[in-house]
Amino acid sequence: MAEVIIVRDAREGGEFVADAVIDLVRARPGAVLGLATGSSPLPVYDAIGRRAGEVDLSRVHGFALDEYVGLPEGHEQSYRATITREVVVPLGLTPANVHVPCGRVEGIRTAGEEYDTAIAAAGGIDLQLLGIGTDGHIGFNEPGSSFASPTRVKTLTRQTRRDNSRFFGHADEVPRRSITQGIGTILRARHLVLLAFGESKAQAVASAIEGPLTSSVPASAIQLHPRATVVIDEAASRLLANADYYRDAFADSSAWQTR
Ligand code: F6R
Repeated sequence: MAEVIIVRDAREGGEFVADAVIDLVRARPGAVLGLATGSSPLPVYDAIGRRAGEVDLSRVHGFALDEYVGLPEGHEQSYRATITREVVVPLGLTPANVHVPCGRVEGIRTAGEEYDTAIAAAGGIDLQLLGIGTDGHIGFNEPGSSFASPTRVKTLTRQTRRDNSRFFGHADEVPRRSITQGIGTILRARHLVLLAFGESKAQAVASAIEGPLTSSVPASAIQLHPRATVVIDEAASRLLANADYYRDAFADSSAWQTR
C-alpha cells in the first residue's frame, strides 16, 4: 500500500517532499524528475527554491506529466510555459533538460509514443510528482483510463475543465483535450509522490487509497506501485477510514521511508 503522510498544511508537505527531491539529487545529480503542474506541487517547488543554494539542479532532467492540446505556442497557461515559469527558472534547471509533451495539433498522433521513448532513453523517471483531480485523475488520465495506457491524447471531463477554469477565466476557454503521460507510463516511475491539499480532494483521496482498484478512479492505480507516497493535509485526509493507522505508522518510522 502507499505510505500515507498526513501533514499540518501544504507548506509542511512541500518541505517533506523537497527533502526527498534534494536527497535524490545529491545522490544522483542527473536524476530524472516527473513534474506535475497545477496547485498541488507548488509548495514543493517553493520549498526547493528556498533551499536552492543547497543543491545544484542544473544536471537534473525533467518530464512534465501533461500538456493541453492546441493552445497557441507560448500561451501563458500552457504547461510548457507554466513549467518554465514555476520550475525551470526558479530552481535553475537547464531548459534543454526539461521536456513537456508536444501539444501541437500537427504531429499529435506520434507525440505520445515519442514522449514515452524519450523518458525511456533518459533512463526512466526516478521520482514522479503527482496531483489528483477531484474526479480522481492523475496526469490527465480521466476516469475510465486504462491502467496500462501510454502517453496519448485524452479528452478532459467537464469537471476538470471547470476545476481548471480558475487558470483561464472561464471553463469554455480551457482546452478540451490534453496529451498526458499514461497510467502505464506513470507506474513505470521508480517512486510516485502524490500530493493533495484541501477538503475538495478528500473524496478522491479516499477512493484512490482505500477504494477498490478501478479505472473509474485512475489514481487508485497507485495501489499497484511498490513505492508510492501520498502527502496530504488534514482536510484532504478527512474521509480516510484508516487515518489513525497512517499516523501511527509514520510516527513509528525512524525516518521518512522515501529518504
Ligand atoms: C497537472 C496534472 C493534474 C493535476 C490535478 C490536480 O500536471 O496532471 O493531474 O495534478 O488536476 O490539480 P491541482 O493540483 O491544481 O488541484
